[in-house]
Amino acid sequence: MKDHSIKLGILKSLSQGGFHSGEELGEKFGISRAAISKHIKGIQAWGVDIFRVQGKGYQLAKPMQLLDQQIIQAQVENHVELIPIIDSTNQYLLDRAQDLDSGSVCLSEYQIKGRGRRGREWISPFGSNLYLSMYWRLDAGMAAAMGLSLVVGVAIVEALELLKFEDVKLKWPNDLYYQDRKLAGILVEMSGQAGAAANLVIGMGLNLMMTDKTQGITQPWASLSEVAGVQSIDRNQLATTMIQTLNKTLLDYELKGMQGFVERWNRLDNFIHRPVKLIMGEREITGISRGINEQGAVIVETESGLETFIGGEISLRPHH
Ligand code: ATP
Ligand code: BTN
Repeated sequence: MKDHSIKLGILKSLSQGGFHSGEELGEKFGISRAAISKHIKGIQAWGVDIFRVQGKGYQLAKPMQLLDQQIIQAQVENHVELIPIIDSTNQYLLDRAQDLDSGSVCLSEYQIKGRGRRGREWISPFGSNLYLSMYWRLDAGMAAAMGLSLVVGVAIVEALELLKFEDVKLKWPNDLYYQDRKLAGILVEMSGQAGAAANLVIGMGLNLMMTDKTQGITQPWASLSEVAGVQSIDRNQLATTMIQTLNKTLLDYELKGMQGFVERWNRLDNFIHRPVKLIMGEREITGISRGINEQGAVIVETESGLETFIGGEISLRPHH
């Protein structure tokens, strides 16, 4: 694996605020100013906005709070690993599922190959979002996995509500939306079965303070920094609350199943009672969205009455 320690060290210095000259940084890391300049270019390629002023040095365009594994670990029982630069936090846990305790967490600052549903890319600039995965051993087995993935969406919105963020909604099956734009995506993957139990990895990418400079996202997106109710975001506190709430909600789901979750999900549904279309390969269905049922299927009122739809190949969109 590539050693990113100098780049991460430079970022740590810059995240303290103010200007840092090439000379100062060079001395600190025992390398030349030219080498520092090369590292800065590498950091910029991770999506960090850094500018340079002649005679002063480098500065971050906006403040950045780095994640701190110790702060988070001190507040949760789950095993937590922070790997600042990673391919994908989901892949990391999938590769290690056999050796992990249920509830183990992987966090990252930058994903080289962050992924979304159906092999799509999840754009993951450094330090400005939250990339979190949790390994969960679901004793109820595969049949319960669909419900679990909906429950995860509820848990994440409720965690944001605990932190006083308002008006965050869900889009079936499990995206988070704010003002009709995508705020977060959830990806639940399976690493095989151990007897009757299912080994699941639950991944969440939550935008915190992404800038308009971010490229490659093909649909309207939102960041938590614009969500009403909160002035500033403490990323360590956010990660901690996410882990605690996810863990608690998943235990609750294992004990009681979908009981109570249909109402909790429907309360947060971004599209309830709105015209939608469901895209299923070549097929499209239009109607009015009526929330979900106990199986986790989406209910749509079409010309032929109430119909339910379920499955990973369905995309829900507003119908204008
Ligand atoms: P559906 O799953 O219903 O088809 P979707 O269009 O949101 O919904 P997903 O596969 O769930 O598709 O999500 C991946 C999509 O999300 C990508 O195609 C990309 O356009 C978008 N995307 C990638 N990174 C981000 C990000 N950081 N924030 C918001 N959206 C993103
Ligand atoms: C989607 O909306 O398609 C789901 C996006 C899921 C992104 C997260 S970021 C953390 C975890 N690691 C990944 O590679 N993907 C998920």
